[in-house]
Amino acid sequence: MMKNTNQYINSEKKRFLSELLELLKIPSVSADSKHDKDTRDCAKWVLKAMNNSGLKNTQLIETAGHPVVFGEFIIDSALPTVLVYGHYDVQPADPIELWNSPPFEPVIKDKVIYARGSADDKGQFYMHLKAIEAMIKTDELPCNVKVLIEGEEEVGSENLDLFIKNNRELLSNDVIIISDTHMIDNDTPSITSGLKGLAYMEVEITGPNRDLHSGTYGGSVANPINVLSKMIASLTDENNRITIPGFYDKVIEVSLEDRVEMGRAPFSEKEFKASIDISMEDGEKGYTTPERQGIRPTLDVNGIWGGYIGEGAKTVLPSKAYAKISMRLVPDQNSIEISELFQKHFESIAPKSVKVKVHTHHGGEPVVTNLNSKGYKAASLAMEKTFGKKPVPVRQGGSIPIVSLFEAELNTNCILIGFGLASDAIHSPNEHYGLFNFYKGIETIPYFFKYFCEL
Ligand code: BES
Ligand code: MN
Ligand code: MN
Repeated sequence: MMKNTNQYINSEKKRFLSELLELLKIPSVSADSKHDKDTRDCAKWVLKAMNNSGLKNTQLIETAGHPVVFGEFIIDSALPTVLVYGHYDVQPADPIELWNSPPFEPVIKDKVIYARGSADDKGQFYMHLKAIEAMIKTDELPCNVKVLIEGEEEVGSENLDLFIKNNRELLSNDVIIISDTHMIDNDTPSITSGLKGLAYMEVEITGPNRDLHSGTYGGSVANPINVLSKMIASLTDENNRITIPGFYDKVIEVSLEDRVEMGRAPFSEKEFKASIDISMEDGEKGYTTPERQGIRPTLDVNGIWGGYIGEGAKTVLPSKAYAKISMRLVPDQNSIEISELFQKHFESIAPKSVKVKVHTHHGGEPVVTNLNSKGYKAASLAMEKTFGKKPVPVRQGGSIPIVSLFEAELNTNCILIGFGLASDAIHSPNEHYGLFNFYKGIETIPYFFKYFCEL
């Protein structure tokens, strides 16, 4: 007798895992040109994996950057089409000395896979390939499916923009499903109902035209690092509100009623603090930690440098100081507008004693999910089926810039059904992904297809 999808998944579990471990060995670090060949090798690996999973019309498509990988299984054009999106690129592994095992030599310890990309996003998009394989091989795929896995998410998906605009027909669909976010915990399934946008700036402050002796010149010439520190400090006030004029103008305030509803999602202040070893949380006055993370815009310095940072003490008044500053945005803020507001403000607060340059890096727009959409309902039913509990919607602080572009260009909803955990340490040393989560995802995804087609 032919197996059904569940039986197929159960009997192939071991192989699914060993394939994922192979994928995790490829250091596809998109930001680092030293890894360009590895990143391309990874795309080729994904292409082969799509073929092995039974997808047709598979293609490795060149872009101006790292290639995109596509595959599909079209049963009948009259049936709905689900588009799966994921990314095969990963964040750099450094600081490498803080890893307990090498980032690209996956190990399984206590039912958890440790490797760069295990949760973000290789372990998550691979669940979709395996779920699709199971449905195809058992003849239980209820509709058409397309799969798009890109290699530049971690560097802003800049080339994917053009790819989507030029390939609307190839990518046409009825719903887009993405597993690249996390749930509350393994007993509390949740669906990401919103992501933040991003405006990412880099600033350069120049004082004197060369480094100076800090005794001879100190106190008589503006020190760019002192100046930059004051400028940055002034970007937020004593209530941790951002001081850039106009910054909050377009923020849609979430109603008290909706905030009460959001507050139902379980959250332990105590566990949160313990998990990152802090004694006190901090953020915009008047909001809870989950609200600060999910529904309020934020500003953070990601890096700051300048002057002497070598061994010992060198007395120097540096010529330059730099910082990378990101702002996470909520509806209806727009990343271009916010970047411009930042630039104008930052230039205006610089004292005459220094020169200031402001550069805008890639950005992205915020998104919120319509909880009444067919896609959301199907995802909710699917999780309820496999977790035995109805998932709660949670707005999250991360960004996937391509989501808003997908929705605008392809005119469909993106459903963010991630199976990771906040504690997976994505982008950090010792990133990991639970076997429970990997298998639960594979088990849940076919139900999403089923319910989406039935609704
Ligand atoms: N998977 C993450 C986004 C994410 C993380 C969503 C946590 C929800 C919760 C994605 O790979 C990512 O890292 N995005 C970047 C943005 C990008 C432009 C570099 C981010 O959020 O910093
Ligand atoms: Mn990701
Ligand atoms: Mn990421």
